[in-house]
Amino acid sequence: MDRRKALQQMVAGSATLFVVPSALAACGSSKKKSSDTSPLTVNLDDAKFASLKEQGGSVVTDNTIIINTAADGIVALSSICTHKGCTVGYDKAHKDILCPCHRSEFAFDGSVLQGPATKPLPKYKVTRNGDTLTIDRS
Ligand code: FES
Repeated sequence: MDRRKALQQMVAGSATLFVVPSALAACGSSKKKSSDTSPLTVNLDDAKFASLKEQGGSVVTDNTIIINTAADGIVALSSICTHKGCTVGYDKAHKDILCPCHRSEFAFDGSVLQGPATKPLPKYKVTRNGDTLTIDRS
């Protein structure tokens, strides 16, 4: 093997070492786990959650999406898409939940309206006491 070929192989090997871990990290980070089953308490007087006082308001926090819907009141679901783990959001125009990664859509009960996701989003029980919401994620 001449010097030039040996040098080319070394450079190619180095590039592999740098590229592969970052590619693996990217794949791993897109798959979130919804392992937090502790109750979530939301104070609607907190500025962070103030939008939930209005119909159409929504907040994503602690792997949970909370939406003030016209038909169902305030609902809460896992915000982790069941397809590949991206964070879903409220789609005001379509009045459903949309995953920005591959465009899966979910209804407020968590059911899949459009794939590629095939499993529903877990829906959580919401209890309201004045301006305090308790979301049971167990
Ligand atoms: S990660 Fe949500 S549709 Fe693919």
